Amino acid sequence: MTKDRYILAIESSCDETSVAVLKNNSELLSNIIASQVESHKRFGGVVPEVASRHHVEVVTLCIQDALNESGIGVQQLDAVAVTYGPGLVGALLVGMAAAKAFAWANGLPLIPINHMTGHLMAAREAGALTYPLLALLVSGGHTELVYVKEPGDYKIVGETRDDAVGEAYDKVGRVMGLTYPAGKEIDNLAHKGQDIYDFPRAMIKEDNLDFSFSGLKSAFINLYHNAQQKGQALKSTDLSASFQAAVLDILLAKTKRALELYPVKTLVVAGGVAANHGLRERLAEEVADQVEVRIPPLRLCGDNAGMIALAAAIEFKKGHFANLDLNAKPSLAFESLAD
Ligand code: KG4
Ligand code: ZN
Repeated sequence: MTKDRYILAIESSCDETSVAVLKNNSELLSNIIASQVESHKRFGGVVPEVASRHHVEVVTLCIQDALNESGIGVQQLDAVAVTYGPGLVGALLVGMAAAKAFAWANGLPLIPINHMTGHLMAAREAGALTYPLLALLVSGGHTELVYVKEPGDYKIVGETRDDAVGEAYDKVGRVMGLTYPAGKEIDNLAHKGQDIYDFPRAMIKEDNLDFSFSGLKSAFINLYHNAQQKGQALKSTDLSASFQAAVLDILLAKTKRALELYPVKTLVVAGGVAANHGLRERLAEEVADQVEVRIPPLRLCGDNAGMIALAAAIEFKKGHFANLDLNAKPSLAFESLAD
């Protein structure tokens, strides 16, 4: 009988402090998420210095909670995984200092994980992934199409040239007076409205896999301010429906083109925006008959350490460990075996 393996993972790249314990390949025993969103709401976005301070306050409590909830003792752990980028440097450093100290004090190996690999590997919770696969990664900081030949071999085949899609949601939400982050609320409002404003769908017909959302964002803001100046009130339901329809048309068009160029069996859609109900509906209607669509469950779409642990299980098997001089990489890109 083989011994069970336990990995403790820490994520602190942005405004969530999270610690998870994973048993073997894919059994998440705990996934504690301490969100700072209430502290950042009043600023309309994440304030890096505030984020770092919050991480310092709660990271050790989160480690304790994750261990308690898992029922696993420190002595049973086999490794500690940590996000080392991309993200806010100060925020990353807090999680990394905690992970390194914990690893050193308990004689455990350290597994470095790319935050975006974590988002992608969260899709393992939706079913086994077959490679090669294509991933549409949509979050507050990233919008990219990635060809994954095998775990660890990633090639970005398309990406945003300006704003990330989550960022666009949050910016137009701010204009409408919604609280940060606005993606979920816009998604809900969109389901109650109509696409009546016909916003631009940038680069949709261009023969590439890149995205652009800044023109859409500007068109939205112009429409909103012009109406305000004329004293007209626009319905947030119709505004949201129109904005979301444009976003989804762009995401679907580029994903379908990518599937033509890279005919794979599995499409992963992950990152905070993968929680979007409209996106899930459109994927089910328009691509689910061609490929197996794997989207993480809602609780694993936003930032969390469970996804870092799921990615770490693969790295553990490969023996990919880091020394204690591992540094934070705020602009870490996807690694590729080919490079
Ligand atoms: O992955 P994530 O939690 O953090 C980053 O790594 O950036 O993504 C956060 C982003 C925010 O911009 C938020 O507004 C967006 O995901 N988001 C959504 C939805 N839920 C969260 N966007 C659209 N629809 C949603 N339901
Ligand atoms: Zn993220």
